[in-house]
Amino acid sequence: MRVLITGATGQLGSELCTVLSEGFEVVAATRQEFDITDLEAVRSFITRTEPDVIINTAAYTNVDGSELEKEKAFLVNAIGARNVAIVAREMGAKLVHISTDYVFDGEKGEPYVEYDPPHPVNAYGWSKLVGEWMVREQNVRTFILRVAWLYGPKGKNFVKTMLKLARERDEIRVVSDQRGTPTFVGDVARQIKLLIGTEGYGLYHCTSQGGCTRYEFAREIFRCAGYGEETSPDGSVLLIPDTRGLRPITLRPVTSDEFPTPARRPANSVLENFMLKVQGLDTMPHWAESLSAQMGRIKEAMEDEGAGPVRR
Ligand SMILES: NC(=O)c1ccc[n+]([C@@H]2O[C@H](COP(=O)([O-])OP(=O)(O)OC[C@H]3O[C@@H](n4cnc5c(N)ncnc54)[C@H](OP(=O)(O)O)[C@@H]3O)[C@@H](O)[C@H]2O)c1
Repeated sequence: MRVLITGATGQLGSELCTVLSEGFEVVAATRQEFDITDLEAVRSFITRTEPDVIINTAAYTNVDGSELEKEKAFLVNAIGARNVAIVAREMGAKLVHISTDYVFDGEKGEPYVEYDPPHPVNAYGWSKLVGEWMVREQNVRTFILRVAWLYGPKGKNFVKTMLKLARERDEIRVVSDQRGTPTFVGDVARQIKLLIGTEGYGLYHCTSQGGCTRYEFAREIFRCAGYGEETSPDGSVLLIPDTRGLRPITLRPVTSDEFPTPARRPANSVLENFMLKVQGLDTMPHWAESLSAQMGRIKEAMEDEGAGPVRR
């Protein structure tokens, strides 16, 4: 079976190429092969490569940038996604399309399931939601997977940002009023590998189990990276490195109001993989378990990228 992956240089796309190359013939499509906003270019390349399955991870993923470049976000995340879906339909290929937890407004006090009504609070969320609609209109042989808070060895993500800041700053401020589920790209890739062997098309939530705030996520990142903790009366924690020569860092919880960004984020975007669970297909592990298991690989990737030695 031949699987074409768009966004192959991205966090999820690159990991999918690795995971699926065991057992499948992988065609890695980067922006150089085609721009998903150009229907003729998408059609020309995909028709030539004749995939059985197309996985669309390509997206405009800059959440704050989407407020400032709204048209670009919609062009890539809605029109681009539609273009890939049109060609998948024409080819008779299965399609996996990746969406986001940011389709929800965060007002629900518990995890969101697939039958909760979406209501995005920012332009990125709307562009991804319209992408879901457009993809669904084109192609019934489609899996739409909503993922969240992705991290992995490639590209930019919260885990790498925290480890980088720890080398540069004495104090790191992280919001403690946004709750979601950190999700390792390799776990999503393995879940996709399982799904594409089925005919179980539809909408799926696909995140790790459990949830945490960004601040709790940061604490767990530093714990896994080998820092000890001392709590302060003001609610912050002092992170104590386990290696001589490195200085302690204060990790301070702040509210979203204290940390203004161009795009509003939902206060709660924890998802439940309800539709995977009812079919007995959910393979996603707990977020903290994955983080602990992947920390070594992420540090290695940072060293390879030239970040200098990162303590193991
Ligand atoms: N990151 C998260 O926390 C998160 C959370 C929820 C949902 N998601 C969704 O998960 C998917 C994967 O995210 P990710 O973090 O792996 O993204 P990423 O690392 O930002 O990678 C996105 C990829 O898309 C490519 N791309 C962008 N515009 C393109 C275009 N017009 N034509 C062709 N390729 C284009 C990029 O290529 P260049 O490098 O050349 O720009 C890059 O390879 C996306 O659909 C995203 O919306 C992500």
